[in-house]
Amino acid sequence: MKFFGDKSISHRALILSSLCKGTSTIKNISNAIDINSTIDCLELCGIKILREKNIKLIGSKLKDPLQSLNCGNSGTTARLLIGFLVGQKVSATFIGDSSLSLRPMSRISVPLGLMGSEISTNKGLLPISIKTQYLYGIDYSSKIASAQVKSSILLAGLGAGGITKLSEKYATRNHTEIMMEKIGIDINIIDNQIILKPIKYKLDPINIYIPGDPSTASFFAAAALLLKKEIILEKILLNKTRVGFFNIIEQMGAKIEYFNTKISFGEKMGDIRVIPNELHSIKIDKNMIPSIIDEIPIIAVLASQANGKTTLTGASELRYKETDRIKAICSNLNNMGIKINELNDGFIINGKSKLQGTKIKTYKDHRIAMAFSIAGLISNGKTYIDDERCIKFSCPEFFSLLKELIN
Ligand code: S3P
Repeated sequence: MKFFGDKSISHRALILSSLCKGTSTIKNISNAIDINSTIDCLELCGIKILREKNIKLIGSKLKDPLQSLNCGNSGTTARLLIGFLVGQKVSATFIGDSSLSLRPMSRISVPLGLMGSEISTNKGLLPISIKTQYLYGIDYSSKIASAQVKSSILLAGLGAGGITKLSEKYATRNHTEIMMEKIGIDINIIDNQIILKPIKYKLDPINIYIPGDPSTASFFAAAALLLKKEIILEKILLNKTRVGFFNIIEQMGAKIEYFNTKISFGEKMGDIRVIPNELHSIKIDKNMIPSIIDEIPIIAVLASQANGKTTLTGASELRYKETDRIKAICSNLNNMGIKINELNDGFIINGKSKLQGTKIKTYKDHRIAMAFSIAGLISNGKTYIDDERCIKFSCPEFFSLLKELIN
């Protein structure tokens, strides 16, 4: 089974290639609505983007947009673009949909303010307005395990007057650092600290192939495990900070094989064979969370079908995603007849019991909708998804791929 390109890398390829002088080519870009949000915002800032099968993007100086930049449902669009445009001294106002408008933004507005940007928020939420005359480098230690926060500061740092230094307690996805280095930006990592110099030279256009999205692929790996089918996921991103899901299902008993591996624009990619087996419970702690942060809803569904008690802790960040995912996971699994205890920062699931069909509340969260659509495949009776339209924020072809797997 093949997948569109990784969503996180797609955002970064669009943003960073807009700094490169000339026409960049982006192959296998994600077709998620979230990526359209980033494209729309960059276009409003004067970047020319040809939306063909392979995206062509002509980098140029960014302009103040004449209207608000609507980031839709995408936290990555908002947080990365705010940092990026602060660095490019663009004045703009950012808005989002009802879910994004409830997500915390002070995690980026505080450090960007310390760098010298005039940034105003609606009590730490969107709408946010930015205006920047001069930007200082910063020496920052991120308290929250978030690649969006890290990337926002690094992207701002590209336009700062001096060096930006950043350290994080838990390693989060490192696509920004990898792509910056590949593009020729002066970025070094020494003892857990990222050291970034501002750009003072011309960057050449890029030609990038984006490996398949492992977060999307994980839903189909899970479906295959539950239906006891073998599956091969082709050309998937295998960056260490992103394959936590595959490590977890391996520890739960599945057999995993990696092959055809290679490097694409600094990122490891390859095929993954997932061979089903009896699943057993697992203990997941804080250190493992960043590498599975988007996969926890589907891991919870798998845990309901694993023998024994699965404990997941250290994931309080889940409460700040498209919805409060801890609450959404616990209430939906509970309604499906699973014994689950909600913790402040996770949950305990007592497996394994038969899932009962019910009405699933997605809270308009794409990953909750996909995880429970897959739970519905193996439940007794019918499972209704209250609103599956949110799935297109990350995987518009979800149901057609699911049909491909079932047939
Ligand atoms: C992302 C980082 C993660 C992840 C999100 C994409 C990114 O968010 O959940 O889907 O592309 O940087 P946080 O940085 O808030 O953990």
